[in-house]
Amino acid sequence: DAVFITCFAKEGEKPSAALLLKSDGGQELDKLLEGQISKTIQERLFAGKEGEILSLPTFGKIKAKTVVVIGAGLQKNFSLDSLRRMGAKLVQTANALKVKNVAGQLEATRIKNHAPQERLQAFTEGAVLGDYNFTTFKKKEVPPAKTLKTFRISAKGNKTPLQKAIAQGEIVATAANLTRELVNTPPGHMTPTDLAKAAQEVAKKYKNIRCKVFGVNEIKKEKMGAILAVSQGSDEPPSFVHLSYKPAKKSKTKVALVGKGITFDSGGLNIKTREMEFMKMDMAGAATVIGVFQAIAQLKPNIEVEGFIAAAENLLSGSAIKPSDIITTRAGRTVEIINTDAEGRLVLADALDYACDQNPTYIIDMATLTGGAAYAVGEIITPILGNDKTLVDKILAAGKAVGEPVWELPIVKEYKKGYLKGPADLKNSGSGSKASTICGALFLEDFARKNKWVHMDIASTAWADEPMKYYAEVGATGNPVRTIINFLLSF
Ligand code: BES
Ligand code: ZN
Ligand code: ZN
Repeated sequence: DAVFITCFAKEGEKPSAALLLKSDGGQELDKLLEGQISKTIQERLFAGKEGEILSLPTFGKIKAKTVVVIGAGLQKNFSLDSLRRMGAKLVQTANALKVKNVAGQLEATRIKNHAPQERLQAFTEGAVLGDYNFTTFKKKEVPPAKTLKTFRISAKGNKTPLQKAIAQGEIVATAANLTRELVNTPPGHMTPTDLAKAAQEVAKKYKNIRCKVFGVNEIKKEKMGAILAVSQGSDEPPSFVHLSYKPAKKSKTKVALVGKGITFDSGGLNIKTREMEFMKMDMAGAATVIGVFQAIAQLKPNIEVEGFIAAAENLLSGSAIKPSDIITTRAGRTVEIINTDAEGRLVLADALDYACDQNPTYIIDMATLTGGAAYAVGEIITPILGNDKTLVDKILAAGKAVGEPVWELPIVKEYKKGYLKGPADLKNSGSGSKASTICGALFLEDFARKNKWVHMDIASTAWADEPMKYYAEVGATGNPVRTIINFLLSF
C-alpha cells in the first residue's frame, strides 16, 4: 500500500533533488512519479529535516498507492537513534494514512562503525516503541483502530543475521512496551499484589524464568522491617518478588536487578502537595525488572540474572508510619523516619540487603527516587551513581548505544554526615544537602554492603511529560529497559 524512502537534509539554503539517494531507490521512484518528489523539494515543501514526512499519492503510476518520504536530517548528525525515530514516525504515519502494508529499504542510511544489523534493529525498535499507546482503559471512546499489518524492510546481505536483528529489535522494544503498560496502569489496578502477578506471568510464559513471591507473612519472616513500615498505612499488603534466570552454560557472573515498586506514592503523612497524580509511576524500577526478564527469557544472555522487586503502597491512615518513628531494616540498621515521602530508599534498603545474600557479582538498582534527578540532568538523562567504575562505565556505554543517555553523578561522602545524626543509625532524609539525588544514593550505598553496585535514579526519565523521541504520547517511556538488556547481552 505504501513505499517508504529516506531522505537526508542538505546543509545551506538551496534545496536539491540530489537529496534523493540513488541507493534507496529514491531517484528511480522520482522518475516513475514524473519528478513529483524532486519538484516538492525544489518548491521547498520538503527539506528532509529529521522528523519531517512527505506523503504523495502515486495515482496508479506504481503498484503502491502512496510514497512516504521520511526526513533523516543532516547526514553528519545521523545515528542509530535517528533510525529509531524514523521507524516510529513511519509506523505513526502509516496508521494515520490508514495504510495496511508498508515496504522499503534502508540502504542509504549507512552509519560509520555500525553494521547493517544494528541499523535494522534500531529501526525496528523505533517502529515498535512508536506504535505503543496506552488504550487499555478507553472503552467508550474507541481509539481509531490501527490499520498497519505488515512492515517489510528489504536489505542487502546475509539473511540470517539481518532477520535476527529485526527479531531482536522487536523483542527488546516489546519488553519496553510491557514495562510502559505496567507503569501506565493506574494504582487501583496495579497494587503490590498485581505487580507481583505481572512478574509471575512472565515466569509462567517462559520456562527459563523462575519467580518466587513473598506475601506479608514471608516479608515478616525475612525481617524486612522497612518494607513493612512503608506499607503499614495502606490496606494493600506489600509484596516482594525474586525472579531468576540461569544460562544454559554455567556462568560465574551474576547480575542482581533491584527495582523500587511503590505502586502509589501519596507521600504518606508528609503528603505530597503537588503532582500526586503522577505517582502511579513510582513502580517504574520494578516494572523495568519485569520487562527485562521478559526479554532475557528470549534473548538468553550468557550470565545469571536475578531480579528483586520491593512493592508497597505509600498511603496515610491511622496506622501509617509517623515522622520520628524508628524502624529496623532487614540489615539490622535502624532508621529514623524524618520524611515519610522518602519511602523508596526504605523499601530498597531491604531489597538490596536480600539481594546481597544471593552473592551477586554486580547489583543494579533502579528507582524513581528523587524529584531532584530532573534538576540535576533533566528529562532525557538518567543519573547513575555507584562504587565501581567498570560497572558504571559499562552502563554508560549500554545507555549510549540504545539511545537512553545516562550520566554519572559523584557520591559525595561529605553529604552523608547529616544522615548519621539523631537517635537511630540513619535518618531517611535531611542530610543537610540540596543534592537530593546524591543523598538518595548515599542512603542506599551501605545496604549494598561491599558489592559492586550502581543506583540509577529514573524519576525523570521513566515518564515523558510530552510526546518525544519515539514516544507517541505522554506517559511511561520504558527507560531504562533497553539499556539493561544491552548491558546483560554484553557478557
Ligand atoms: N517518588 C518520589 C520521587 C519522584 C518525584 C518521582 C517526582 C517522580 C517524580 C520519592 O519517593 C520522593 O518523594 N522523594 C523525595 C525525597 C525527599 C523527601 C528526601 C523528593 O524527591 O522530594
Ligand atoms: Zn515519596
Ligand atoms: Zn516514591
